[in-house]
Amino acid sequence: MPFDKANSLLKEVENANPTTVEELEQFRIKYIGAKGALKDIFSEIRTIEPGRKGEFGQLTNKIKQTAEEKFRIVKEALEEAAESNIAIPDLFAPAEPLDLGSRHPVSVMMNRIVDIFSRIGFTVEEGPEVEDDWHNFTALGTPPDHPARDMQDTFYVANDPAHLLRTHTSSVQIRVMENRKPPIRAIFPGRVYRNETISARAHAQFHQVEGLYIDEKVAFTDLQQTLLHFAKEMFGATTKIRLRPSFFPFTEPSAEMDVSCFICDAKGCNVCKQTGWVEILGCGMIDPVVLENCGIDAEKYTGFAFGMGVERQAMLQYRINDIRLLFENDVRFLRQFEATI
Ligand code: PHE
Repeated sequence: MPFDKANSLLKEVENANPTTVEELEQFRIKYIGAKGALKDIFSEIRTIEPGRKGEFGQLTNKIKQTAEEKFRIVKEALEEAAESNIAIPDLFAPAEPLDLGSRHPVSVMMNRIVDIFSRIGFTVEEGPEVEDDWHNFTALGTPPDHPARDMQDTFYVANDPAHLLRTHTSSVQIRVMENRKPPIRAIFPGRVYRNETISARAHAQFHQVEGLYIDEKVAFTDLQQTLLHFAKEMFGATTKIRLRPSFFPFTEPSAEMDVSCFICDAKGCNVCKQTGWVEILGCGMIDPVVLENCGIDAEKYTGFAFGMGVERQAMLQYRINDIRLLFENDVRFLRQFEATI
């Protein structure tokens, strides 16, 4: 009798097919658990005649192993299924949209300026930000004891006064003139540094775009017309320009250029301080001494140069009232500008 009971229990265990966590738990309770059928059948061993006790023992062990093996396999399978539900996403679902960055307002301005000059035949070149004294000052008509050095407070490289962070992109003029023969028609965008107290209106780092045009018979009117073209492209077709006499050590004559205020249509507002004009760049005819410093024959060639601040134009265009916003990289600020290239 106990043998029959054990054999039918074995069959039952073999045929059992738990497929869910709940069914598996019932299986465990019914067969393996402390009050399960196996326990029952083990206790029957007392009633078996001594000669067959071993045989009965083997049979009950087989039931035990079969039940435990089944429990283990089903448990693992259920666990794997649960995990893979998380691990394998829907491969056919549409992709999450990528978060696109936006162009920094200074880059937007810089690209526009570069674009305008590229279309009228200016090439784009760059120079180093760590410069030597010659390219940033001396070759540009500013020897060490020249009072004009006070115009620009300079960051020098520690322990090496011969090297500095360039204070303007005019240093690239010298590099290009030293290395090329006229005609030269190029612009140089880049970052510049000045030892300024940082405030809403001034920063110790900013960007400039420098322009240079050298050829035979380049005249002041060429400078005027080039800049007028730029101003109209940049600020609108009705924009007017005004050149005021100024001073730079490397240009003669020198001028500062104002454009008619595009915010109030030159009627007067707080951006143009009620004057109808806003200043955007410095310019002039390249001093013959500078040409000769770079090995260019000043009898044969003349040229003009100009340099403009980029932050200032971004601030005007976007009505930004604090230059520091342009360097803080606060995404709430940056998100407001052009979304793509
Ligand atoms: N380098 C001058 C500045 O930073 C600007 C300038 C460039 C003036 C070229 C004349 C010619 O103020």
